[in-house]
Amino acid sequence: MSTTSRNINMLILSVLILGLLVMIVLGFMLGFSHPLPWLLIGVLIIIPFIHDKIVAKRFVEWKESYSVENKDIDDDHKKLLGMINQLQTAVHYQTDEGTIEQTLNDLIDYTKYHFSREEKIMQDHDYPDFEEHKQEHAKMVAQVTQFIDEYRIDKTRTIDNVLQFLKSWLINHINGSDQKYRPYLKK
Ligand SMILES: [Fe+2]
Repeated sequence: MSTTSRNINMLILSVLILGLLVMIVLGFMLGFSHPLPWLLIGVLIIIPFIHDKIVAKRFVEWKESYSVENKDIDDDHKKLLGMINQLQTAVHYQTDEGTIEQTLNDLIDYTKYHFSREEKIMQDHDYPDFEEHKQEHAKMVAQVTQFIDEYRIDKTRTIDNVLQFLKSWLINHINGSDQKYRPYLKK
């Protein structure tokens, strides 16, 4: 969602709340025993809850099923998901471009650091598909770097596109390829 469409959404929400407040006042003119204004008050109360639920859906959450049963790797994966959420928060509160850039850079740097740590652990445990997994890491870094570079050049590609890409990019890897080496780490 771009800044413009986010502002339009906020405007629609404000108009809706204002409209409800006016209708509640008018509703009470029908008498305090009339159900309509009370019903509208109920609608007014649940709006923030619905709004919070919609916002919460944009954040990624760690699940126990993502675990590879190695504390260092799990901690890194949790940290990476946390960094994506940090970026989501920066975007949600329309933080300045500099903070968003910094968060993106930090995320790429930590991903590279994590991949090399993960590769070392896989090697230490003689993971047979190590080379294939290492190539996948290199491909992922190239892919995300290219995607972010394109975002920096082409501003029609919004930060929300970048976030969407990062979420599926990371979760598919954690929950897909990374699960394949899980049994080997126990050896
Ligand atoms: Fe991996």
